[in-house]
Amino acid sequence: MLLLFSLSGEHPRLPEAEVKAVLEGEGLEYSVFFRDEEERILVLDVKSGDHVFVNRLSLTRKAGIVASLSSDLEQVSDEVFEVIRGSGSFAVRCSEKDIREDLGQLLAGRGLVVDLDNPEREVYCINVGGRLFSCINLALDRDFRDRIPKRRPFFHPTSLHPKTARLLVNLARVKGGDAVLDPFCGTGGILIEAGLMGLQVRGFDVDGMMVAGCQRNLGFYGLEGEVDERNALELDNMEVDAIVSDLPYGRSSYLTDRNLDSFYRRFMNKSSELVRKEGYIVCVLPMDLDVDIKNLALLDRFEIYIHKSLTRRVYVFRRV
Ligand SMILES: C[S@@+](CC[C@H](N)C(=O)[O-])C[C@H]1O[C@@H](n2cnc3c(N)ncnc32)[C@H](O)[C@@H]1O
Repeated sequence: MLLLFSLSGEHPRLPEAEVKAVLEGEGLEYSVFFRDEEERILVLDVKSGDHVFVNRLSLTRKAGIVASLSSDLEQVSDEVFEVIRGSGSFAVRCSEKDIREDLGQLLAGRGLVVDLDNPEREVYCINVGGRLFSCINLALDRDFRDRIPKRRPFFHPTSLHPKTARLLVNLARVKGGDAVLDPFCGTGGILIEAGLMGLQVRGFDVDGMMVAGCQRNLGFYGLEGEVDERNALELDNMEVDAIVSDLPYGRSSYLTDRNLDSFYRRFMNKSSELVRKEGYIVCVLPMDLDVDIKNLALLDRFEIYIHKSLTRRVYVFRRV
């Protein structure tokens, strides 16, 4: 099945890395069929009919099943009709008026009902450098706005935006049912996204007020998780599938080691004892880290510019 992803322009590499990480996590084989970096279009040949995973993605703006690769609208209409026949209504979306109207008419001529406001199926036609991709839109149902930190019962300014939190979880290549640990959970931004994606969540924070707030926030979204007051550097006797965390940036009065570099290294060493073999560790730091850490292989590193005094570094490790 060919799936087209219209990627967000928020970062040059992260949107594509996220799509691939989710596929790996779900155990779905794929190959790259087409990519246009300028238009931020990625088309993958996924060796499965399962496309539910697209709902997990945070940096994909639109996704669709490619129904036709033809530039001949008669042929496009034949191929699209095969997929959407029997649907209650449809709309063609395309930035090119001619394609939109001509394809709409061809499909309507086959007895399908046009509904531009609330169609059952949406056909997206995207012209990338003279190549026309006609896709059946897959509705992405992620509701980030309902979960921005200020809408949660417990708020703290260090909370991650749900989009970033979800991205981090996805980079950890997890699938439904896996156990994810955030040892610096704060208000629970990461745990909320992980829980909503069907993962088991576990969190710790050294600050009791954060622990209580995180529990409240999880409950608010109907989620359950084990959250306790603990020092992340002293955790033991547990094994999880992945660790995903936004580490303290040094401003918190609870930071238990004033030397940030040594604190991060001590935690990374600890985390390699808490994650299962072949499991992933995704952590966000405000600075570079010497990544030579026993039992952890660095897979990727990304920079996310926030403002002039903060660029987040996202490190992705695999436990070897
Ligand atoms: C950057 S915040 C995490 C924000 C979180 N991702 C959210 O969305 O709310 C870091 C958290 O680490 C906690 N912390 C600091 N030192 C800690 C330690 N040694 N063990 C556990 N938690 C610690 C702080 O209390 C703070 O809540």
